[in-house]
Amino acid sequence: MTVEFRPSELWEPDTRRDPHAFHARVRAAGRPVPQVDPAGHRLWVVARHADVLDGLRHPAIGHEVLRHQAPDVIPEHHRSEAARIAARQLIQLDPPDHTRLRGLVSTAFTARTIARLEPWIAGVADRLVARARGLGTFDGVADLVDPLPVNVIAQLVGIPEEDRARFREWSAIIVSAADHDAAATLAFAAYLDELAGRRRAVPEDDLLSELVALESQGDALDRDELVAMVQLLLIAGQETTVDVLVNGIRLLLTHPEQWQALLADPSLASAAVEETLRFRGPVEIVPPRFTFREVDIAGGTIPAFERVGLSLWGANRDPSVFSDPDVFDLHRPDVHRHLAFGHGTHFCLGASLGRLEARIMFERIARELPRLRLAVEPEELDGFRLHQGSLPLRIRPGAA
Ligand code: HEM
Repeated sequence: MTVEFRPSELWEPDTRRDPHAFHARVRAAGRPVPQVDPAGHRLWVVARHADVLDGLRHPAIGHEVLRHQAPDVIPEHHRSEAARIAARQLIQLDPPDHTRLRGLVSTAFTARTIARLEPWIAGVADRLVARARGLGTFDGVADLVDPLPVNVIAQLVGIPEEDRARFREWSAIIVSAADHDAAATLAFAAYLDELAGRRRAVPEDDLLSELVALESQGDALDRDELVAMVQLLLIAGQETTVDVLVNGIRLLLTHPEQWQALLADPSLASAAVEETLRFRGPVEIVPPRFTFREVDIAGGTIPAFERVGLSLWGANRDPSVFSDPDVFDLHRPDVHRHLAFGHGTHFCLGASLGRLEARIMFERIARELPRLRLAVEPEELDGFRLHQGSLPLRIRPGAA
């Protein structure tokens, strides 16, 4: 049976209401499906688990297409300071630049290093949960989960307490700004220059000190790379984690038997994190890559220099990998095969950190807020989306 698609179906309001149905149809199509995005660019969508893995590993699919297409041209937009910084972000580079930069920062993100942050994160989570309990009725985004990830990144990087309010303001602008020339980028870059200078003189136990210490060992991040790295942590680590937290809570509260299972055994918190990531991770399609030549993939052929959209939502509900993929189930034995953090070269650098934050928060909520409920009927909630506005919650009075 041939599966037909409208040209921009991925972005149509009906698809947004039920995106998983679209990704299921792409899986069924048995070929890469071309879609035209709102800016007029074609994106070839691939959605089966095996094909998404193939795309994430493919040597002829990557980011730095200009090197392959027109190696002698230095693009105009690389000239402004903010754009130059944006172009040095790890997530947009291919090997060998990617390998070098990632090697320099990766030790700071291993599960062991990140585990040292646990007591600090737990302290913040405890305060947020206690405050929510005091409120009784509250917004699960603004009043409970939103403050955690940005504060964790500030702590990890080593932003001093007195600068945290300013840091949060910049980060909100940087995270939302599509325009890389935003004044916030430059102000933030100047601030980091100054802070890096202080850490060079007097190192502390934080990421910034670690990164500037590399300078004395020969190979180090240059100034633009350092600013780009911290900016990327903000961009890649904030809304994703907020999204996992808020959608996890929502999924648990709308699946009472799963919520009861977590209340009975809060050590299921890790399983709740993984199943949330599989069932509805924050990243629908990884940032687009390009084909460097004609590429055979997913039962079809994508021409050279075209955009490829590897669908994590498609992969994570592929019935050939996950049994009953549309069921939210904390006891799923195959959950670890999900691709919510990507795979291979660009596998999420902050995966251990995101998992730790979500696990701590789900544990705290299960132990401290067992009477937590939605404050509206589930049908009144809008569709699942990354920029989740709010999640009205209340704590039911009386016994648990
Ligand atoms: C990359 C998901 C949290 C930092 C990625 C990628 C995905 C992802 C899918 C791969 C993108 C690609 O292949 O193009 C998530 C999810 C998170 C999360 C689901 C939820 C908990 C974080 C956190 C941080 C972070 C907390 C850091 C503070 C990064 C960085 C990259 C990345 C730096 C780029 C890695 C590279 O290009 O080598 N993330 N992320 N992420 N993530 Fe995360």
